[in-house]
Amino acid sequence: MEPLEKEIQECENIKELERLRIEVFGKKGYFASEFTKLKTLEGDEKIAFAAKVNETKEKFTALLKTKKEFLENREATDALKKDAVDISLYGNISGVGALHPVMSTMDRVIEYFVSLNFSIEDGPLVEDDFHNFEALNLPKFHPARDMQDTFYFKDGSLLRTHTSPVQIRTMLSQKPPIRMICPGSVFRPDLDLTHTPMFHQIEGLVVDKKGAVSFANLKSILEEFLKHMFGDVAVRFRPSFFPFTEPSAEVDISCIFCHGKGCRVCKNTGWLEILGCGTVDPNVFKAVGYKNVSGYAFGLGIERFAMLLCGVPDLRSLFEGDLRLLEQFK
Ligand code: DAH
Repeated sequence: MEPLEKEIQECENIKELERLRIEVFGKKGYFASEFTKLKTLEGDEKIAFAAKVNETKEKFTALLKTKKEFLENREATDALKKDAVDISLYGNISGVGALHPVMSTMDRVIEYFVSLNFSIEDGPLVEDDFHNFEALNLPKFHPARDMQDTFYFKDGSLLRTHTSPVQIRTMLSQKPPIRMICPGSVFRPDLDLTHTPMFHQIEGLVVDKKGAVSFANLKSILEEFLKHMFGDVAVRFRPSFFPFTEPSAEVDISCIFCHGKGCRVCKNTGWLEILGCGTVDPNVFKAVGYKNVSGYAFGLGIERFAMLLCGVPDLRSLFEGDLRLLEQFK
C-alpha cells in the first residue's frame, strides 16, 4: 500500500490523480482485491481484517480528497496568473463621441430661442384626441386630419403627430403672456427618402394681450432665426393652410446649395420649404378659454434642418446609427 500512498502524495496533476484513484478504488483496484481476500477468511480473523481494510479505505479517501483540492486550487491560480490583464498598459483608445446631427441641430435651435427669452415646455408622447386635434381646431371628420396620418392605440389615445398639442397644454396650465418653444419627438406612419415614422419638431408659441402680437412680429423673428441657422439666405412667406393658425404661411429659404439658381435638392425651384407658421386661430383660443389675446405660432422639423445643414440626402440614414456617416459630423 505504501508505494501507492507515496505516488498520490507526489502526484502533480488531476488526470494522474484520477488514474491513481481508480487504481485504489476501481473495480480491479486495490480494495476490490482486498475484499475478495475477505471472502476467504472467517471468524475473528475476518473481523480484524475487515477493520483494517476499512481504516485504510478512510485514509485513502481523505488523502485523495486533500490532494484533489490542492491540485484544483493550484490549477485555478495558475490559470488566473496566465490570463491576468495588466491594467497599467494602454488599451485600444476608443474614439471620442459626438452629438448626433439631429441633436446638435436641435440644440442650436433651442439656444437661439432661449436667448430670445422663450421658455422650454414639454408634453407627453402619447396624446389624446383633444390635445392633438380637437383643441387645435381639427374637429373629428375634418378633412385636414388627413394631413397627418396617425398611430392610434386601441383605447383611442395616439402617438402625437406634432408638437402643437404642447401649445394647448401650456395655455391650459399657464396664463398669458406666453413665450414658449417645445422640442420633441413626433410620430407618423410614413417611411421614404424624406420621412421616418419618428422624427423631431420644435413648436413655438407667443401669446400676449390683444393687438400686442402680430404677423409682422412673427415674420421678423423667423427671418432673423433662419438667417442665424442658414447664413445669408432670402426668406419668403407663402400663404398656406393650417387649422390652428389664420392666416397661415409656409416659409421658404433660397436654396443653400444652388443659391436660388435651381438644382436637384430644391427641385429646380430655387427655394427650400422650411417651416409652417401663422397667427393663432381664434378657435384655438376658444378651446383653452383665452379671451382678448393675440398670438403667433410656428412649427419646424429638425431632421429637415439637419439634412440641409449637414448635406444628408436620405432622412432614413440619420437613424441607422452608421458610424461612417456620424463620424463626419464631429
Ligand atoms: N404642426 C404642424 C405640422 O406638424 C407644423 C406647424 C405649422 C406648427 C404651423 C405650427 C404652425 O405651430 O403655426 O405639420
